[in-house]
Amino acid sequence: MTSRKTEHETPAGPDLSRRGFIKSWGAGAVAVTVGGGYQAQAAEAEEQPLAAEALSRVELDVNGRPHSVLAEPRWSLLHVLREELGLTGCKPGCERGECGACTVLLDDVPHYACQVLAVEAEGRRIETVEGLLDGETLSALQAQFVKEDGLQCGYCTPGQVMAAEGLLRRNPDPSPDEIRSAMSGNLCRCGAYAHIFNAVAAAAKVRKG
Ligand code: FES
Ligand code: FES
Repeated sequence: MTSRKTEHETPAGPDLSRRGFIKSWGAGAVAVTVGGGYQAQAAEAEEQPLAAEALSRVELDVNGRPHSVLAEPRWSLLHVLREELGLTGCKPGCERGECGACTVLLDDVPHYACQVLAVEAEGRRIETVEGLLDGETLSALQAQFVKEDGLQCGYCTPGQVMAAEGLLRRNPDPSPDEIRSAMSGNLCRCGAYAHIFNAVAAAAKVRKG
């Protein structure tokens, strides 16, 4: 697969490319492996819930609503959105910053929710695909995904929609290349890319009126 620069930000900041982030993450994993036995210990520790006093209260602004959640410091935003707040539009795919299924907006910018700790999201405006709905009515962008057949199985679709929403907020009139570049951090195993790009372009037209 050709490597393309993603416009998603990582917790390390906007200047670090997705590829660079994955490389540095991989280097860390190698170091851990060399430590020997650490992975087994880490897996065991992961299964042990922390004592209640080790939980932190995290205040999150999600889709315009305040939420107060007791969370372990290691919990990802993806975990908290799905398991604590019931916002299952945010999908777990790879859970290591590669697929984009978990994409949400933080202060209007697409982020992988699996790569952000819930505690890091405090004080940010978090938006999930549920937040784009007006009651039961789809947003113009969501409606164009339906109209243009921008999905097959639909698993990647919430992440695709949030990446597109981030693009259209910062660039209401993107060129085809800009659409492809902005969506390059979101994989679709069904290969619906052409329809996804058409949906984003059509939504840009509708939003411009
Ligand atoms: S689940 Fe977060 S990038 Fe794949
Ligand atoms: S529509 Fe199936 S993974 Fe994208």
